[in-house]
Amino acid sequence: MEDHMTTDLSADQDAEFRLPEPEVAKRPGDYYGHLRSRCPVAHTPTFGGFWILSRYDHVRDAAMDTAAFSSAGGVTIPLTPTPPSLCLEQDDPEHRLYRRPMQRWFSPARMAALESAVRDVVTECIDAIADSNRADLASSIADPVPAMVIAAMLGLQRDEWPFFREKNGEYFRLQALGDAEGAAAAVQSLVDYLNRKLDERRTRPQDDLLTDILTLEVEGRTVTAEEALSLAFLLLAAGHETTVGAIGGMLYHVARDHEVRDRLIAEPALVDRAVEEALRLEPPLPGLGRTTRDGAEVNDVVIPPGEHVMLLFAAANRDPAAFDDPEQFRLDRRSNSHMAFGYGIHRCVGAPLARLEMRVVLEEVLRRLPGVRLREDDEVEVVYNFSRTYRCLDAEW
Ligand code: HEM
Repeated sequence: MEDHMTTDLSADQDAEFRLPEPEVAKRPGDYYGHLRSRCPVAHTPTFGGFWILSRYDHVRDAAMDTAAFSSAGGVTIPLTPTPPSLCLEQDDPEHRLYRRPMQRWFSPARMAALESAVRDVVTECIDAIADSNRADLASSIADPVPAMVIAAMLGLQRDEWPFFREKNGEYFRLQALGDAEGAAAAVQSLVDYLNRKLDERRTRPQDDLLTDILTLEVEGRTVTAEEALSLAFLLLAAGHETTVGAIGGMLYHVARDHEVRDRLIAEPALVDRAVEEALRLEPPLPGLGRTTRDGAEVNDVVIPPGEHVMLLFAAANRDPAAFDDPEQFRLDRRSNSHMAFGYGIHRCVGAPLARLEMRVVLEEVLRRLPGVRLREDDEVEVVYNFSRTYRCLDAEW
């Protein structure tokens, strides 16, 4: 299948995949610019070899062209030993069967009903640091909020979040390091954990998402135990890892730029724009994979059949052909059609929840810690393990 060895690559296609390098993970703008301008259809030998699309139009068109670019071969690069992801790793018509019912779980009415619970979680996290005048915003806010919120939605015990957050990060990290056995063990402990929780719901249904999953009807029948596990796994994983990265990126920009922070305090109506701008500049899932079915042609480059292709949403989001002044965090950007949530049929189903969490975090941080400022930009670390996560956001107020 991976016949790139026989593919004749020209010099402007051969590229390194540099996101795992700490400096590039933190400030990826130059790398993305290099890819877009020098090798917009690049090939890298990393992770067994894959292609990278980085221009806005190319990424958008590939995401739309599901006949040429399939999700069914897995969308993580490298592939991870997780249960097959229903919906995310399926093409239509199968994809649609699971996507439709899931959309109901993130409807505007459900999100409105959830807002006060999200605010309670955020308040609890800020209460723990407000009096100390200094804290790491990554470990005290970005890390716990999404994990506690998805735990509440699924019906998991709140204090169990450090366990599933750690295991979830572990399987990506170990897989990327080539430790397939360790990654599989981390996945298995999450599978065992979720199976136990699902079993509890089978004997005693609750008013929570795990119970909704068990009773989901697909094509006139209730989902099987295997399908239920796959959906629970997907929601648990997708439901926190990404939002942790998104909140970290947003707090980074607001805490390091006093003008942005003060303008948001003066004009709270701009909070939604700050959320979108953070998603555009710092999308926590920089790139997702597809597999070419019969081969594809992009920018006059032929990609053979059966090749893995990364749609680098993060580079597309900084494409000057699509955004003015793309490297800047701007609150006056009126239209912002970023692709942090993907594009086309797989566009993130949990986006309303992620946006709700980001908005509430920003509102509460600005209200409770109005003088918040980053102490040392140099201390901030960004780790790329398939998703992009901020660490050491040491701030004072
Ligand atoms: C800021 C946070 C988030 C980001 C940046 C994000 C990003 C994405 C992206 C880029 C996709 C498209 C995948 C593809 O094209 O292959 C996606 C799909 C998906 N996301 Fe999210 N996501 C976030 C939060 C969430 C949350 C909170 C949930 C659920 C609790 C969630 C559940 C899903 C699911 C189920 C899919 C698959 C949709 C489909 O295949 O139709 N995501 N997400």
